[in-house]
Amino acid sequence: MARVYNFSAGPAALPESVLQRMKDEVFNWQGTGVSIMEIGHRTATFQDMLALLESKIRKLMNIPNNYKVLFLAGGGQGLFSLIPMNLTAKNKAVDYFVTGIWSDRAAKYSKRYADVNVVTTATSSNIPDKSTWKLNPKAKYAFYCPNETINGISFSQIPNTGNVPLVADLTSCILSQNIDVSRYGVLFAAAQKNLGIAGISLLIIRDDLLDEAYDSVPDVFNFKSQSENKSLLNTIPTFPVYMMDLIVDWVNEQGGVAKMEQNSLAKSSKLYKAIDESSFYNNLIEIQYRSRINIPFSLPTQELLDNFLLEAEREGLKYLAGHALVGGARASMYNAMPEAGVNSLVDFMKYFASKYA
Ligand SMILES: Cc1ncc(COP(=O)(O)O)c(C=O)c1O
Repeated sequence: MARVYNFSAGPAALPESVLQRMKDEVFNWQGTGVSIMEIGHRTATFQDMLALLESKIRKLMNIPNNYKVLFLAGGGQGLFSLIPMNLTAKNKAVDYFVTGIWSDRAAKYSKRYADVNVVTTATSSNIPDKSTWKLNPKAKYAFYCPNETINGISFSQIPNTGNVPLVADLTSCILSQNIDVSRYGVLFAAAQKNLGIAGISLLIIRDDLLDEAYDSVPDVFNFKSQSENKSLLNTIPTFPVYMMDLIVDWVNEQGGVAKMEQNSLAKSSKLYKAIDESSFYNNLIEIQYRSRINIPFSLPTQELLDNFLLEAEREGLKYLAGHALVGGARASMYNAMPEAGVNSLVDFMKYFASKYA
């Protein structure tokens, strides 16, 4: 069977050339005579790859020297807990922007470790104006999710929290637009969308924030311990790290983050245009808060939606169902989604609407 266009929200589509490279290298990685999965994480070959990966990420994202780059297991939700556990031993006041299901969950998890103040809560169509935000100038950090994967709401600008360090969950938008790392205290992303496959997360943390972990935090989840051990305190998920390395090479080959941003703008504009020009599909989010990556849309009835998903799948357009918590349809278009996939989706949507409207 030929490959299809995969609109999955995550784990998500990988570039075909990355899959091909992985296939080519799987029996004999870097002349070792074994695969990457069969090699010790303490071998020089693996450690060199990890160190090089870190330097490639530093260059790609322009990460200043006073930031540590960590590779951690536990996924995005693991970090929802690990961040307050690692940062709030001395100051428990934390701010959360609740703009969708993920930041809501992050705020809920944090309540076990910290005193959570909700700065603002998004509606189904926007993020309330900053004049209404309830920021705490004494908070240890302010957490936000620039791109909410399920609701499709995003921040068009970095929220201004004054001297309070920003913590950002970039799981669904990392490497899709240029960001100024120096504006943040902590940035993180689980890998399974734009950084490869599930099993590893990237965490970028300003070094002055490494000193406030609870004593009870297990060593393998302690950011400072992992930083001192170059993320190798225990056996790191080696294959997901390797896949991240392939993805980083691929992004560089494509022209870097600026090119990814340009592609993302082109793809999302096409899809929103198709939605907005039809009276059949609907996306209620105000233009400035619309995600460029995860685009939810509705159809007039559940029956039409069911047919849409079925027929789309027959056309090789897969995993377009919205998240179970919100329903509807959703197209996730990470870096690996080619523009041709979006063209096919738009053509299919026009055809389907003209058939059933
Ligand atoms: C923005 C965001 N944060 C966190 C998560 C949770 O990640 P994980 O499943 O690795 O815990 C997701 C998963 O889709 C996500 O999209």
